[in-house]
Amino acid sequence: MNTTIPVTSTATELSETTGDEWWRTAVIYQVYPRSFADSNGDGIGDLPGITAHLPALRELGVDAIWLSPFMTSPQRDAGYDVADYRGVDPLFGTLADFDDMLAAAHELGLRVIVDLVPNHTSSDHAWFREALASAPGSAERGHYWFRDGKGENGDEPPNNWNSVFGGPAWTRTTNADGTPGQWYLHLFDSSQPDLNWEDPWVWARFRDILRFWLDRGVDGFRIDVAHGMAKAEGLPDFTPAQGAGSMGGAGGSLEPEISTVPPEPPYWGQEGGHAIFRDWHRVLAEYDGDRALCGEAWIDPPSKLALYVRPDEMQQTFNFSYLETPWNAQALHEVITSSLDAFGSVGAPSTWVLSNHDVVRHATRLALMGDNPQGHGLGPKTPFRPDPVVGLRRARAATTLMLALPGSAYLFQGEELGLPEVIDLPDSARQDPTWFRTHGERYGRDGCRVPIPWTAAGASYGFSDTGASWLPQPAEWATLARDVEASDPDSTLSLYRRLLAEREERGLGAGVLEWLDGFGENVVAFHNGEVTVVANVGEASVSLPPGTVLVSSAPLAEGRLPADTAAWLAR
Ligand code: NOJ
Ligand code: CA
Repeated sequence: MNTTIPVTSTATELSETTGDEWWRTAVIYQVYPRSFADSNGDGIGDLPGITAHLPALRELGVDAIWLSPFMTSPQRDAGYDVADYRGVDPLFGTLADFDDMLAAAHELGLRVIVDLVPNHTSSDHAWFREALASAPGSAERGHYWFRDGKGENGDEPPNNWNSVFGGPAWTRTTNADGTPGQWYLHLFDSSQPDLNWEDPWVWARFRDILRFWLDRGVDGFRIDVAHGMAKAEGLPDFTPAQGAGSMGGAGGSLEPEISTVPPEPPYWGQEGGHAIFRDWHRVLAEYDGDRALCGEAWIDPPSKLALYVRPDEMQQTFNFSYLETPWNAQALHEVITSSLDAFGSVGAPSTWVLSNHDVVRHATRLALMGDNPQGHGLGPKTPFRPDPVVGLRRARAATTLMLALPGSAYLFQGEELGLPEVIDLPDSARQDPTWFRTHGERYGRDGCRVPIPWTAAGASYGFSDTGASWLPQPAEWATLARDVEASDPDSTLSLYRRLLAEREERGLGAGVLEWLDGFGENVVAFHNGEVTVVANVGEASVSLPPGTVLVSSAPLAEGRLPADTAAWLAR
Protein backbone atom coordinates (compact mmCIF):
# COMPACT_ATOMS: atom_id res chain seq x y z
CA MET A 1 0.00 0.00 0.00
CA ASN A 2 1.10 3.53 -0.62
CA THR A 3 1.69 5.52 2.47
CA THR A 4 1.91 9.08 1.20
CA ILE A 5 -1.35 10.95 1.14
CA PRO A 6 -1.44 13.87 -1.27
CA VAL A 7 -3.73 16.53 0.11
CA THR A 8 -4.75 19.58 -1.85
CA SER A 9 -5.79 22.46 0.32
CA THR A 10 -5.52 25.22 -2.26
CA ALA A 11 -8.87 26.47 -3.42
CA THR A 12 -9.55 25.99 -7.12
CA GLU A 13 -11.22 28.80 -9.02
CA LEU A 14 -14.90 28.20 -9.64
CA SER A 15 -15.83 29.18 -13.15
CA GLU A 16 -18.14 32.15 -13.33
CA THR A 17 -19.26 31.47 -16.84
CA THR A 18 -21.01 28.58 -18.47
CA GLY A 19 -19.04 26.01 -20.39
CA ASP A 20 -17.06 23.83 -18.00
CA GLU A 21 -19.97 21.56 -17.05
CA TRP A 22 -18.29 20.66 -13.77
CA TRP A 23 -21.05 18.18 -12.91
CA ARG A 24 -19.94 15.76 -15.64
CA THR A 25 -16.99 14.55 -13.60
CA ALA A 26 -17.62 15.89 -10.08
CA VAL A 27 -17.33 13.89 -6.89
CA ILE A 28 -20.22 15.16 -4.79
CA TYR A 29 -20.28 14.61 -1.02
CA GLN A 30 -23.68 14.33 0.64
CA VAL A 31 -23.95 16.27 3.87
CA TYR A 32 -26.86 15.10 6.00
CA PRO A 33 -27.08 18.29 8.08
CA ARG A 34 -28.63 16.89 11.25
CA SER A 35 -25.84 14.31 11.60
CA PHE A 36 -22.78 16.20 10.35
CA ALA A 37 -21.68 18.66 13.06
CA ASP A 38 -23.57 20.40 15.86
CA SER A 39 -22.45 23.96 16.69
CA ASN A 40 -24.84 24.86 19.52
CA GLY A 41 -24.93 21.75 21.67
CA ASP A 42 -28.53 20.65 21.07
CA GLY A 43 -27.47 17.31 19.57
CA ILE A 44 -28.61 18.17 16.05
CA GLY A 45 -26.15 19.14 13.36
CA ASP A 46 -26.63 22.59 11.82
CA LEU A 47 -25.44 25.04 9.17
CA PRO A 48 -22.73 26.74 11.28
CA GLY A 49 -21.46 23.23 12.06
CA ILE A 50 -21.14 22.54 8.33
CA THR A 51 -19.34 25.85 7.72
CA ALA A 52 -16.83 25.08 10.46
CA HIS A 53 -15.97 21.70 8.95
CA LEU A 54 -15.83 22.56 5.24
CA PRO A 55 -12.00 22.56 5.23
CA ALA A 56 -12.09 18.84 6.11
CA LEU A 57 -14.11 18.21 2.94
CA ARG A 58 -11.74 20.30 0.87
CA GLU A 59 -8.88 18.22 2.27
CA LEU A 60 -10.73 15.03 1.42
CA GLY A 61 -10.70 16.20 -2.19
CA VAL A 62 -14.36 16.34 -3.22
CA ASP A 63 -15.63 18.88 -5.76
CA ALA A 64 -19.08 19.67 -4.39
CA ILE A 65 -21.43 19.07 -1.52
CA TRP A 66 -25.13 18.23 -1.57
CA LEU A 67 -27.10 19.23 1.51
CA SER A 68 -30.17 17.22 2.50
CA PRO A 69 -33.07 19.55 3.42
CA PHE A 70 -32.55 22.28 6.02
CA MET A 71 -35.72 24.23 5.13
CA THR A 72 -38.54 25.03 7.56
CA SER A 73 -40.14 21.75 8.53
CA PRO A 74 -41.91 19.97 11.38
CA GLN A 75 -39.29 17.22 10.83
CA ARG A 76 -41.72 14.34 10.53
CA ASP A 77 -39.46 12.90 7.82
CA ALA A 78 -36.17 14.54 8.81
CA GLY A 79 -36.86 17.65 6.74
CA TYR A 80 -38.24 15.93 3.62
CA ASP A 81 -41.53 17.47 4.75
CA VAL A 82 -41.10 21.15 3.88
CA ALA A 83 -43.40 23.79 5.36
CA ASP A 84 -41.62 26.78 3.79
CA TYR A 85 -39.32 26.30 0.81
CA ARG A 86 -37.61 29.66 1.34
CA GLY A 87 -37.01 29.47 5.06
CA VAL A 88 -34.25 27.82 7.07
CA ASP A 89 -35.56 25.72 9.94
CA PRO A 90 -34.39 27.23 13.27
CA LEU A 91 -33.06 23.78 14.12
CA PHE A 92 -30.38 24.32 11.47
CA GLY A 93 -29.83 28.09 11.81
CA THR A 94 -30.87 31.07 9.72
CA LEU A 95 -30.81 32.16 6.10
CA ALA A 96 -27.74 34.25 6.99
CA ASP A 97 -26.07 31.05 8.25
CA PHE A 98 -26.86 29.46 4.90
CA ASP A 99 -25.38 32.40 2.99
CA ASP A 100 -22.24 32.22 5.15
CA MET A 101 -21.91 28.49 4.53
CA LEU A 102 -22.37 28.97 0.77
CA ALA A 103 -19.77 31.76 0.64
CA ALA A 104 -17.29 29.70 2.68
CA ALA A 105 -17.80 26.67 0.42
CA HIS A 106 -17.29 28.74 -2.73
CA GLU A 107 -14.21 30.32 -1.20
CA LEU A 108 -12.78 26.82 -0.80
CA GLY A 109 -13.68 25.86 -4.37
CA LEU A 110 -16.59 23.62 -3.36
CA ARG A 111 -19.88 23.79 -5.28
CA VAL A 112 -23.12 23.49 -3.33
CA ILE A 113 -26.27 21.63 -4.31
CA VAL A 114 -29.41 21.91 -2.18
CA ASP A 115 -32.25 19.45 -1.87
CA LEU A 116 -35.60 20.40 -3.39
CA VAL A 117 -38.69 18.42 -2.37
CA PRO A 118 -41.34 19.06 -5.05
CA ASN A 119 -43.38 15.83 -4.96
CA HIS A 120 -45.03 16.77 -1.67
CA THR A 121 -45.14 19.49 0.94
CA SER A 122 -45.49 19.16 4.67
CA SER A 123 -49.08 19.06 5.88
CA ASP A 124 -48.04 22.19 7.84
CA HIS A 125 -47.39 24.11 4.63
CA ALA A 126 -49.71 27.11 4.18
CA TRP A 127 -50.82 25.71 0.78
CA PHE A 128 -52.10 22.53 2.40
CA ARG A 129 -53.67 24.39 5.33
CA GLU A 130 -55.53 26.58 2.83
CA ALA A 131 -56.60 23.51 0.86
CA LEU A 132 -58.01 21.87 3.98
CA ALA A 133 -59.93 25.04 4.81
CA SER A 134 -61.38 25.25 1.30
CA ALA A 135 -64.30 23.37 -0.21
CA PRO A 136 -64.02 20.21 -2.30
CA GLY A 137 -63.49 21.20 -5.93
CA SER A 138 -61.82 24.52 -4.98
CA ALA A 139 -58.65 25.83 -6.63
CA GLU A 140 -56.83 25.39 -3.29
CA ARG A 141 -57.68 21.68 -3.13
CA GLY A 142 -56.64 21.39 -6.77
CA HIS A 143 -52.99 21.98 -5.79
CA TYR A 144 -53.03 18.53 -4.13
CA TRP A 145 -54.79 15.21 -4.79
CA PHE A 146 -58.07 15.42 -2.90
CA ARG A 147 -60.66 12.80 -3.83
CA ASP A 148 -63.95 11.48 -2.49
CA GLY A 149 -63.67 8.05 -0.94
CA LYS A 150 -65.13 4.89 -2.43
CA GLY A 151 -68.01 2.91 -0.96
CA GLU A 152 -71.42 3.97 0.21
CA ASN A 153 -70.21 6.55 2.74
CA GLY A 154 -66.94 7.33 1.02
CA ASP A 155 -65.12 5.54 3.79
CA GLU A 156 -62.79 3.53 1.57
CA PRO A 157 -59.67 5.12 0.04
CA PRO A 158 -60.01 6.34 -3.57
CA ASN A 159 -57.59 3.66 -4.81
CA ASN A 160 -55.42 0.83 -3.46
CA TRP A 161 -52.02 2.57 -3.45
CA ASN A 162 -49.76 2.05 -0.47
CA SER A 163 -47.39 4.53 1.11
CA VAL A 164 -43.66 3.88 0.60
CA PHE A 165 -43.39 4.02 4.40
CA GLY A 166 -46.15 1.41 4.92
CA GLY A 167 -49.93 1.60 5.24
CA PRO A 168 -52.34 3.24 2.78
CA ALA A 169 -51.30 6.20 0.63
CA TRP A 170 -54.53 8.05 1.46
CA THR A 171 -55.73 9.78 4.61
CA ARG A 172 -59.25 10.99 5.19
CA THR A 173 -59.86 14.59 6.23
CA THR A 174 -62.39 15.83 8.75
CA ASN A 175 -64.77 18.64 7.77
CA ALA A 176 -65.19 21.78 9.90
CA ASP A 177 -68.43 20.35 11.34
CA GLY A 178 -66.65 17.16 12.46
CA THR A 179 -68.05 14.92 9.73
CA PRO A 180 -65.63 12.77 7.63
CA GLY A 181 -64.48 14.56 4.48
CA GLN A 182 -62.45 13.90 1.36
CA TRP A 183 -59.22 11.89 1.23
CA TYR A 184 -55.78 13.18 0.16
CA LEU A 185 -52.91 11.29 -1.45
CA HIS A 186 -49.51 10.88 0.21
CA LEU A 187 -47.00 8.49 -1.36
CA PHE A 188 -44.94 8.88 1.84
CA ASP A 189 -46.07 9.84 5.36
CA SER A 190 -49.56 11.26 5.98
CA SER A 191 -47.74 14.51 6.90
CA GLN A 192 -46.42 14.68 3.30
CA PRO A 193 -49.39 15.35 0.96
CA ASP A 194 -48.52 14.96 -2.73
CA LEU A 195 -48.71 18.06 -4.90
CA ASN A 196 -50.74 17.89 -8.09
CA TRP A 197 -48.28 18.61 -10.91
CA GLU A 198 -51.15 18.80 -13.39
CA ASP A 199 -51.94 22.20 -11.85
CA PRO A 200 -50.05 25.10 -13.58
CA TRP A 201 -50.21 27.03 -10.29
CA VAL A 202 -47.80 24.47 -8.76
CA TRP A 203 -45.42 24.92 -11.71
CA ALA A 204 -45.34 28.70 -11.18
CA ARG A 205 -44.62 28.36 -7.44
CA PHE A 206 -41.65 26.06 -8.01
CA ARG A 207 -40.13 28.26 -10.72
CA ASP A 208 -40.05 31.01 -8.08
CA ILE A 209 -38.55 28.66 -5.47
CA LEU A 210 -35.79 27.59 -7.88
CA ARG A 211 -35.00 31.24 -8.59
CA PHE A 212 -34.93 32.07 -4.88
CA TRP A 213 -32.06 29.63 -4.28
CA LEU A 214 -30.36 30.25 -7.65
CA ASP A 215 -30.29 33.97 -6.84
CA ARG A 216 -28.53 33.15 -3.56
CA GLY A 217 -25.86 31.36 -5.59
CA VAL A 218 -26.49 27.63 -5.26
CA ASP A 219 -24.89 25.50 -7.96
CA GLY A 220 -27.85 23.19 -8.35
CA PHE A 221 -30.53 21.03 -6.86
CA ARG A 222 -31.01 17.41 -5.95
CA ILE A 223 -34.62 16.69 -6.89
CA ASP A 224 -36.40 14.50 -4.36
CA VAL A 225 -38.73 11.80 -5.76
CA ALA A 226 -38.24 13.08 -9.31
CA HIS A 227 -39.77 9.85 -10.60
CA GLY A 228 -43.01 10.30 -8.65
CA MET A 229 -44.18 13.81 -9.48
CA ALA A 230 -46.49 12.83 -12.37
CA LYS A 231 -49.27 10.32 -11.70
CA ALA A 232 -51.08 8.17 -14.28
CA GLU A 233 -54.37 9.59 -15.48
CA GLY A 234 -57.31 8.51 -13.35
CA LEU A 235 -55.06 7.25 -10.52
CA PRO A 236 -55.72 3.57 -11.36
CA ASP A 237 -55.33 0.75 -8.82
CA PHE A 238 -52.01 -1.10 -8.86
CA THR A 239 -50.66 -4.30 -7.34
CA PRO A 240 -46.85 -4.16 -7.00
CA ALA A 241 -44.67 -7.13 -8.01
CA GLN A 242 -43.31 -9.16 -5.10
CA GLY A 243 -40.05 -7.80 -3.77
CA ALA A 244 -40.24 -4.42 -5.51
CA GLY A 245 -37.96 -1.92 -3.76
CA SER A 246 -39.78 0.51 -1.54
CA MET A 247 -38.56 3.67 -3.27
CA GLY A 248 -39.73 2.17 -6.54
CA GLY A 249 -36.55 0.50 -7.77
CA ALA A 250 -36.23 -3.00 -9.08
CA GLY A 251 -35.87 -4.41 -5.59
CA GLY A 252 -33.26 -4.91 -2.90
CA SER A 253 -32.46 -8.51 -3.73
CA LEU A 254 -28.86 -9.43 -3.06
CA GLU A 255 -29.04 -12.45 -5.33
CA PRO A 256 -26.56 -12.19 -8.20
CA GLU A 257 -29.25 -12.43 -10.90
CA ILE A 258 -30.13 -9.18 -12.61
CA SER A 259 -33.70 -8.53 -11.47
CA THR A 260 -36.55 -8.61 -13.93
CA VAL A 261 -38.18 -5.24 -14.42
CA PRO A 262 -41.59 -5.07 -12.74
CA PRO A 263 -44.49 -3.32 -14.50
CA GLU A 264 -44.34 0.43 -13.96
CA PRO A 265 -46.60 1.55 -11.10
CA PRO A 266 -48.96 4.43 -11.98
CA TYR A 267 -47.06 6.69 -9.60
CA TRP A 268 -43.45 6.08 -10.70
CA GLY A 269 -41.72 7.01 -13.94
CA GLN A 270 -44.74 8.53 -15.68
CA GLU A 271 -44.12 10.32 -18.97
CA GLY A 272 -45.73 13.54 -17.69
CA GLY A 273 -42.83 14.24 -15.34
CA HIS A 274 -40.39 15.02 -18.13
CA ALA A 275 -42.09 18.29 -19.12
CA ILE A 276 -41.44 19.63 -15.61
CA PHE A 277 -37.71 19.02 -15.90
CA ARG A 278 -37.64 20.68 -19.33
CA ASP A 279 -39.22 23.73 -17.73
CA TRP A 280 -36.66 23.75 -14.92
CA HIS A 281 -33.81 23.23 -17.38
CA ARG A 282 -34.82 26.53 -18.98
CA VAL A 283 -34.92 28.28 -15.59
CA LEU A 284 -31.39 27.10 -14.73
CA ALA A 285 -30.14 28.10 -18.18
CA GLU A 286 -31.00 31.73 -17.34
CA TYR A 287 -28.17 31.65 -14.79
CA ASP A 288 -24.41 31.63 -15.27
CA GLY A 289 -22.02 29.07 -13.85
CA ASP A 290 -23.43 25.77 -15.13
CA ARG A 291 -26.10 25.12 -12.53
CA ALA A 292 -27.24 21.50 -12.42
CA LEU A 293 -30.23 19.34 -11.53
CA CYS A 294 -29.70 15.85 -10.15
CA GLY A 295 -32.79 13.70 -10.01
CA GLU A 296 -33.58 11.15 -7.38
CA ALA A 297 -35.31 8.69 -9.70
CA TRP A 298 -35.57 5.04 -8.65
CA ILE A 299 -36.01 3.81 -12.19
CA ASP A 300 -34.62 0.61 -13.65
CA PRO A 301 -33.20 -0.23 -16.18
CA PRO A 302 -30.63 2.52 -16.92
CA SER A 303 -32.06 2.92 -20.45
CA LYS A 304 -35.30 4.24 -18.95
CA LEU A 305 -33.52 6.24 -16.28
CA ALA A 306 -31.48 8.00 -18.96
CA LEU A 307 -34.66 9.67 -20.27
CA TYR A 308 -34.40 12.02 -17.28
CA VAL A 309 -31.04 13.35 -18.47
CA ARG A 310 -31.76 14.02 -22.11
CA PRO A 311 -30.05 17.25 -23.23
CA ASP A 312 -33.01 19.50 -22.31
CA GLU A 313 -33.90 17.88 -18.96
CA MET A 314 -31.81 17.26 -15.84
CA GLN A 315 -28.03 17.16 -15.93
CA GLN A 316 -27.65 14.09 -13.71
CA THR A 317 -29.69 11.39 -12.08
CA PHE A 318 -28.65 8.98 -9.34
CA ASN A 319 -27.75 5.52 -10.59
CA PHE A 320 -29.54 3.32 -8.05
CA SER A 321 -29.20 0.28 -10.30
CA TYR A 322 -25.47 0.54 -9.54
CA LEU A 323 -26.09 0.96 -5.81
CA GLU A 324 -28.31 -2.13 -5.79
CA THR A 325 -25.85 -4.33 -7.67
CA PRO A 326 -24.57 -7.25 -5.59
CA TRP A 327 -20.86 -7.94 -5.01
CA ASN A 328 -20.63 -10.06 -8.13
CA ALA A 329 -18.31 -9.50 -11.09
CA GLN A 330 -20.79 -10.34 -13.82
CA ALA A 331 -23.50 -8.13 -12.32
CA LEU A 332 -21.04 -5.24 -11.88
CA HIS A 333 -19.79 -5.62 -15.45
CA GLU A 334 -23.35 -5.56 -16.76
CA VAL A 335 -24.53 -2.58 -14.77
CA ILE A 336 -21.45 -0.51 -15.62
CA THR A 337 -21.84 -1.34 -19.33
CA SER A 338 -25.56 -0.64 -19.42
CA SER A 339 -25.12 2.61 -17.48
CA LEU A 340 -22.37 3.95 -19.72
CA ASP A 341 -24.35 2.93 -22.81
CA ALA A 342 -27.63 4.38 -21.61
CA PHE A 343 -26.32 7.70 -20.30
CA GLY A 344 -23.85 7.98 -23.18
CA SER A 345 -26.69 7.56 -25.69
CA VAL A 346 -28.25 10.83 -24.49
CA GLY A 347 -24.95 12.67 -24.02
CA ALA A 348 -25.12 12.62 -20.22
CA PRO A 349 -22.48 11.49 -17.72
CA SER A 350 -23.21 8.35 -15.79
CA THR A 351 -23.32 8.80 -12.04
CA TRP A 352 -22.25 6.25 -9.44
CA VAL A 353 -23.29 5.89 -5.83
CA LEU A 354 -22.96 3.27 -3.08
CA SER A 355 -24.48 4.91 -0.01
CA ASN A 356 -26.91 7.64 1.02
CA HIS A 357 -29.29 8.48 3.88
CA ASP A 358 -31.96 6.04 2.62
CA VAL A 359 -29.99 2.80 2.31
CA VAL A 360 -27.99 0.48 4.55
CA ARG A 361 -24.40 1.79 4.51
CA HIS A 362 -22.32 -0.16 1.98
CA ALA A 363 -19.74 -1.19 4.61
CA THR A 364 -22.57 -3.32 6.01
CA ARG A 365 -24.74 -3.96 2.96
CA LEU A 366 -22.01 -5.67 0.95
CA ALA A 367 -21.67 -8.37 3.63
CA LEU A 368 -25.39 -9.01 4.17
CA MET A 369 -26.34 -12.66 3.87
CA GLY A 370 -30.10 -12.20 3.52
CA ASP A 371 -32.70 -10.28 1.55
CA ASN A 372 -33.09 -6.72 2.77
CA PRO A 373 -35.22 -4.50 0.50
CA GLN A 374 -34.34 -0.82 0.38
CA GLY A 375 -35.88 1.10 3.26
CA HIS A 376 -36.45 -1.91 5.50
CA GLY A 377 -33.23 -1.35 7.42
CA LEU A 378 -31.58 -3.53 10.03
CA GLY A 379 -32.13 -3.87 13.74
CA PRO A 380 -31.58 -6.10 16.76
CA LYS A 381 -34.14 -8.65 15.54
CA THR A 382 -32.81 -8.97 11.97
CA PRO A 383 -32.06 -12.71 11.62
CA PHE A 384 -28.72 -12.26 9.82
CA ARG A 385 -25.68 -10.34 11.15
CA PRO A 386 -23.18 -9.17 8.57
CA ASP A 387 -19.48 -9.69 9.31
CA PRO A 388 -18.12 -6.13 9.81
CA VAL A 389 -14.59 -7.07 8.73
CA VAL A 390 -15.80 -8.54 5.43
CA GLY A 391 -18.17 -5.59 4.98
CA LEU A 392 -15.47 -2.94 5.40
CA ARG A 393 -13.04 -4.79 3.20
CA ARG A 394 -15.62 -5.05 0.40
CA ALA A 395 -16.70 -1.44 0.90
CA ARG A 396 -13.14 -0.20 0.45
CA ALA A 397 -12.79 -2.32 -2.69
CA ALA A 398 -16.20 -1.20 -4.00
CA THR A 399 -15.30 2.48 -3.55
CA THR A 400 -11.93 1.91 -5.21
CA LEU A 401 -13.79 0.45 -8.18
CA MET A 402 -16.45 3.19 -8.21
CA LEU A 403 -14.05 6.14 -8.09
CA ALA A 404 -12.21 4.78 -11.14
CA LEU A 405 -15.32 4.96 -13.30
CA PRO A 406 -15.83 7.79 -15.79
CA GLY A 407 -18.61 10.21 -14.85
CA SER A 408 -19.69 11.72 -11.55
CA ALA A 409 -19.72 9.96 -8.17
CA TYR A 410 -21.66 10.59 -4.98
CA LEU A 411 -20.31 9.92 -1.48
CA PHE A 412 -22.38 9.89 1.71
CA GLN A 413 -20.91 11.50 4.83
CA GLY A 414 -19.11 8.97 7.01
CA GLU A 415 -18.40 6.43 4.28
CA GLU A 416 -14.91 7.95 4.00
CA LEU A 417 -14.42 6.79 7.61
CA GLY A 418 -15.69 3.30 6.81
CA LEU A 419 -18.72 3.74 9.06
CA PRO A 420 -20.99 0.71 9.21
CA GLU A 421 -24.77 0.75 9.57
CA VAL A 422 -25.74 1.03 13.25
CA ILE A 423 -27.88 -2.06 13.77
CA ASP A 424 -28.35 -1.96 17.55
CA LEU A 425 -30.24 1.29 17.93
CA PRO A 426 -32.75 1.02 20.74
CA ASP A 427 -36.39 1.05 19.63
CA SER A 428 -36.97 4.18 21.70
CA ALA A 429 -34.37 6.12 19.65
CA ARG A 430 -35.79 5.32 16.22
CA GLN A 431 -37.33 8.22 14.30
CA ASP A 432 -37.91 7.06 10.73
CA PRO A 433 -41.64 7.26 9.87
CA THR A 434 -41.27 3.77 8.33
CA TRP A 435 -40.70 2.35 11.82
CA PHE A 436 -43.94 3.89 13.10
CA ARG A 437 -46.10 3.28 10.04
CA THR A 438 -45.17 -0.43 9.95
CA HIS A 439 -45.52 -0.77 13.74
CA GLY A 440 -41.90 -1.84 14.05
CA GLU A 441 -42.04 -4.42 11.28
CA ARG A 442 -39.48 -2.47 9.21
CA TYR A 443 -36.65 -0.75 11.04
CA GLY A 444 -36.24 1.97 8.41
CA ARG A 445 -33.27 4.21 7.76
CA ASP A 446 -32.05 5.53 11.12
CA GLY A 447 -29.07 3.15 11.15
CA CYS A 448 -27.25 5.06 8.38
CA ARG A 449 -28.08 8.48 9.86
CA VAL A 450 -26.20 8.33 13.16
CA PRO A 451 -24.08 11.49 13.76
CA ILE A 452 -20.52 11.05 12.49
CA PRO A 453 -17.38 10.96 14.69
CA TRP A 454 -14.82 13.78 14.31
CA THR A 455 -12.53 13.11 17.27
CA ALA A 456 -11.77 9.96 19.27
CA ALA A 457 -11.81 11.93 22.50
CA GLY A 458 -14.58 14.20 23.64
CA ALA A 459 -18.28 14.00 24.02
CA SER A 460 -20.13 12.44 21.10
CA TYR A 461 -16.77 12.11 19.29
CA GLY A 462 -16.61 15.82 18.53
CA PHE A 463 -20.06 15.90 16.90
CA SER A 464 -21.34 18.19 19.65
CA ASP A 465 -19.55 19.92 22.55
CA THR A 466 -22.23 18.88 25.01
CA GLY A 467 -22.12 15.21 24.03
CA ALA A 468 -25.72 15.37 22.86
CA SER A 469 -26.56 13.36 19.77
CA TRP A 470 -30.05 12.92 18.31
CA LEU A 471 -29.26 9.22 17.69
CA PRO A 472 -26.86 7.36 20.00
CA GLN A 473 -23.38 6.63 18.60
CA PRO A 474 -21.80 3.20 19.12
CA ALA A 475 -18.88 2.87 21.54
CA GLU A 476 -16.64 1.39 18.80
CA TRP A 477 -16.72 4.62 16.82
CA ALA A 478 -13.74 6.15 18.66
CA THR A 479 -11.45 4.15 16.38
CA LEU A 480 -13.29 5.44 13.31
CA ALA A 481 -13.03 9.12 14.26
CA ARG A 482 -11.64 11.44 11.62
CA ASP A 483 -8.67 12.60 13.72
CA VAL A 484 -7.55 9.00 14.30
CA GLU A 485 -7.94 8.06 10.65
CA ALA A 486 -6.24 11.23 9.38
CA SER A 487 -2.94 10.16 10.92
CA ASP A 488 -3.16 6.50 9.87
CA PRO A 489 -1.94 5.89 6.29
CA ASP A 490 -3.90 2.61 6.13
CA SER A 491 -7.20 4.08 7.27
CA THR A 492 -10.27 4.29 5.09
CA LEU A 493 -10.01 8.10 5.17
CA SER A 494 -6.45 7.91 3.79
CA LEU A 495 -7.66 5.51 1.09
CA TYR A 496 -10.43 7.95 0.04
CA ARG A 497 -8.03 10.90 -0.01
CA ARG A 498 -5.59 9.01 -2.15
CA LEU A 499 -8.31 7.78 -4.55
CA LEU A 500 -9.73 11.27 -4.94
CA ALA A 501 -6.32 12.84 -5.52
CA GLU A 502 -5.34 10.22 -8.13
CA ARG A 503 -8.75 10.41 -9.80
CA GLU A 504 -8.35 14.15 -10.17
CA GLU A 505 -4.73 14.04 -11.27
CA ARG A 506 -5.31 11.33 -13.86
CA GLY A 507 -8.59 12.72 -15.16
CA LEU A 508 -10.52 9.50 -14.54
CA GLY A 509 -13.88 11.28 -14.33
CA ALA A 510 -13.51 12.40 -17.94
CA GLY A 511 -11.90 9.15 -19.09
CA VAL A 512 -13.02 6.32 -21.34
CA LEU A 513 -13.51 2.79 -20.05
CA GLU A 514 -12.05 -0.14 -21.97
CA TRP A 515 -12.86 -3.61 -20.59
CA LEU A 516 -10.09 -6.14 -19.96
CA ASP A 517 -10.67 -9.91 -20.13
CA GLY A 518 -8.72 -12.87 -18.93
CA PHE A 519 -8.69 -12.33 -15.16
CA GLY A 520 -11.30 -14.98 -14.35
CA GLU A 521 -14.98 -14.88 -13.52
CA ASN A 522 -14.59 -13.07 -10.20
CA VAL A 523 -12.69 -10.06 -11.48
CA VAL A 524 -13.82 -6.73 -12.90
CA ALA A 525 -10.95 -5.18 -14.90
CA PHE A 526 -10.65 -2.24 -17.24
CA HIS A 527 -8.45 0.55 -18.48
CA ASN A 528 -9.45 4.14 -17.88
CA GLY A 529 -6.87 6.11 -19.83
CA GLU A 530 -3.43 5.36 -18.44
CA VAL A 531 -4.82 3.57 -15.38
CA THR A 532 -5.57 -0.15 -15.10
CA VAL A 533 -8.28 -0.99 -12.59
CA VAL A 534 -8.70 -4.50 -11.19
CA ALA A 535 -11.30 -5.52 -8.61
CA ASN A 536 -11.30 -9.05 -7.21
CA VAL A 537 -14.72 -9.87 -5.76
CA GLY A 538 -13.92 -13.58 -5.33
CA GLU A 539 -12.36 -15.60 -2.50
CA ALA A 540 -9.02 -16.49 -4.12
CA SER A 541 -6.19 -14.08 -4.90
CA VAL A 542 -5.50 -13.22 -8.55
CA SER A 543 -2.39 -12.06 -10.35
CA LEU A 544 -2.04 -8.39 -11.24
CA PRO A 545 -1.36 -7.03 -14.72
CA PRO A 546 1.91 -5.17 -15.31
CA GLY A 547 2.16 -1.63 -13.98
CA THR A 548 2.98 0.37 -10.87
CA VAL A 549 0.41 0.08 -8.13
CA LEU A 550 -0.98 3.55 -7.44
CA VAL A 551 -3.45 2.58 -4.79
CA SER A 552 -4.88 -0.62 -3.38
CA SER A 553 -7.89 -1.06 -1.10
CA ALA A 554 -5.97 -3.64 1.00
CA PRO A 555 -2.34 -4.78 1.13
CA LEU A 556 -1.25 -7.02 -1.72
CA ALA A 557 -0.29 -10.62 -0.87
CA GLU A 558 3.04 -11.57 -2.43
CA GLY A 559 2.35 -9.32 -5.38
CA ARG A 560 -1.12 -10.75 -5.93
CA LEU A 561 -4.52 -9.10 -5.48
CA PRO A 562 -6.26 -10.79 -2.54
CA ALA A 563 -9.97 -11.51 -2.10
CA ASP A 564 -12.32 -8.51 -1.89
CA THR A 565 -9.63 -6.07 -2.98
CA ALA A 566 -9.35 -3.53 -5.79
CA ALA A 567 -6.27 -1.74 -7.10
CA TRP A 568 -5.31 0.97 -9.57
CA LEU A 569 -2.08 0.60 -11.55
CA ALA A 570 -0.28 3.07 -13.78
CA ARG A 571 0.19 1.38 -17.18
C1 NOJ B 1 -36.41 10.45 -0.78
C2 NOJ B 1 -35.57 10.95 0.33
O1 NOJ B 1 -34.22 10.69 0.06
C3 NOJ B 1 -36.07 10.27 1.57
O2 NOJ B 1 -35.21 10.46 2.66
C4 NOJ B 1 -37.46 10.77 1.85
O3 NOJ B 1 -37.99 10.10 2.98
C5 NOJ B 1 -38.38 10.55 0.66
N1 NOJ B 1 -37.76 10.90 -0.59
C6 NOJ B 1 -39.62 11.37 0.79
O4 NOJ B 1 -39.32 12.73 0.62
CA1 CA C 1 -27.44 22.19 16.61
